[in-house]
Amino acid sequence: MLKYLKKYWFFCVAAALFMVGEVSMDLYQPDLMADIVDNGVLKGDINLIISVGVRMIISVILGGICGIMCGVFANLAAQRFGNDVRKDLFGKIMSLSFEETDKISTGSLVTRLTNDVTQVQNTVMMSVRGFVRNTVMFVGGIFMLYRQSPRFALIAACGLPFIIIAVVFFLKKTSPLFAIVQRKLDGINNVMQEDVKGARVVKAYVKEEYELDRFDKANGELCDINLRVHTLLAFMGPCMNIVLNICIVTVILVGGFTFREGGDMTPGRIMAAITYLAQILHGVTFMANIFQTFTRARASADRINEVLRSEAVILDGVCGELPERLGEVEFRDVSFSYAGAPGNRVLDNVSFRVHRGETFAIIGATGSGKSSLVNLIPRFYDALEGEVLVDGVNVKDYPLTELRARIAIVLQKAELYQRPIADNIRWGRGDADPWEIKSAAEIAQADDFICNTEYGYNTLVTEDGHSLSGGQKQRISIARAVIKKCNIMIFDDSTSALDLHTEAELYRTLGERMGDITKIIIAQRIASIKGADRIAVLNNGRIEAVGSHSELMESSELYRDIYNSQLKEGGDINDGE
Ligand SMILES: Nc1ncnc2c1ncn2[C@@H]1O[C@H](COP(=O)(O)OP(=O)(O)OP(=O)(O)O)[C@@H](O)[C@H]1O
Ligand SMILES: [Mg+2]
Repeated sequence: MLKYLKKYWFFCVAAALFMVGEVSMDLYQPDLMADIVDNGVLKGDINLIISVGVRMIISVILGGICGIMCGVFANLAAQRFGNDVRKDLFGKIMSLSFEETDKISTGSLVTRLTNDVTQVQNTVMMSVRGFVRNTVMFVGGIFMLYRQSPRFALIAACGLPFIIIAVVFFLKKTSPLFAIVQRKLDGINNVMQEDVKGARVVKAYVKEEYELDRFDKANGELCDINLRVHTLLAFMGPCMNIVLNICIVTVILVGGFTFREGGDMTPGRIMAAITYLAQILHGVTFMANIFQTFTRARASADRINEVLRSEAVILDGVCGELPERLGEVEFRDVSFSYAGAPGNRVLDNVSFRVHRGETFAIIGATGSGKSSLVNLIPRFYDALEGEVLVDGVNVKDYPLTELRARIAIVLQKAELYQRPIADNIRWGRGDADPWEIKSAAEIAQADDFICNTEYGYNTLVTEDGHSLSGGQKQRISIARAVIKKCNIMIFDDSTSALDLHTEAELYRTLGERMGDITKIIIAQRIASIKGADRIAVLNNGRIEAVGSHSELMESSELYRDIYNSQLKEGGDINDGE
């Protein structure tokens, strides 16, 4: 974290210097007060009262100006520091591969980006101001106290160890709890995210009570741990106050006694000593608070660093000369399992080759590994064994941007952004003009429904695409992929919400207008892929058979089973034409 602060060292130093100015003025005040009482009030010297009073006002004004300037510079350092950390953290989260994001929940990433960064940022602000203020207050206070009387300084020295013991004791007790507080906050954020996003499912299943209970539980856990922390901390203040007041009473006793005995003591000096003592001990209390915030910030900084330091699993490859963009895909003995479940072989020795311009379909039961298979092509994950090749080169050898520029993938779950439909389609290629957007929508069979909406292509898509039907969302996602201008298009079950006629029309237009592009289509319905050049049948991560529809009807029992089951279910096996 310090490297982020280094950049703003000037602001930190300026804030610290102004703070020294402010505290010096604070320390000067009791001395002036003692002078007014002893030499002005007690001796009835009005001129002295006026001249020292003016000095007091000037020192207050100077102290105030220093305080404002310190606040400005400390704020500049803290805000810019927080801004930089947040920016880098967000950039890192964006660059994480699927494997890494699988490990840290979305709720936790959000807490780290918001609450944790704010925690560290506030600590920077507090340290720049508070650390300097209280250190100077402490050292200066002892010096000034010593000037009033060495005996007073001795009293403070006797009280200090008790305060330090109390601070260390309470900080030791509370510091391990701060990491737990942040984890509990993650828990709440996770529940909130799931429930706010899935509000419709919650209502549909009348699960409000259940989800409220879940939220209550997470909220209760956070509340409990916060209560523990704050109850412990609540003891700290009174303990310190007891020591402070014992010291004050002792100062009055010793001062009063010396004064009565005619020793070197005056009421004004006793008053000043009490103020210095309070300043010293408050300085220590504040330091304790700073250390407490530090411990809390350390827990947050560790969580931020965990993300910032996470090594990218999917790195850019190096290949001398990039191959020509042909649109060929090959799997050579590919096996794969997810890092979270290494024992479960999701793909087992998969080999096949897709030729340029070919329409290659993949069919298989749910969970058979279809999405996992296509996710290896743009390197959302890396194969465990074997090789995945695009245009004859291992995908691991491509710079990621170059590899992904060759591929347009329509994911199984259509994700749209809260912006106009046209912008959602343009997301595929930033420089696309309105005609290209319309043409892509036409291929995706989306133009008709878009034109029928009140604002056409300017219609705003609401959050998560809730303003659109499932099929409409899928078609906009397809248009977004079509506009990308690439050589390989992958459709991961992305026409499942379309009726057979619209689906057939989509693939027909795609074939007509983008015939030279290689298409890999995953589908659940045989009717969707009957017309493909070749179909691969996937069963539990293994390729059972590859061939055209008619070939598979003859050679593959599994394919025939799927066909017959869909026929029995009353599915339209003819492709809607
Ligand atoms: N991120 C993940 N972490 C761990 N296991 C996963 C992950 N994603 C999928 N799996 C597991 O991998 C297997 C294959 O999943 P995959 O999504 O590839 O199946 P699919 O054929 O696409 O299924 P569907 O037709 O339902 O989309 C499943 O057993 C699934 O539980
Ligand atoms: Mg899938």
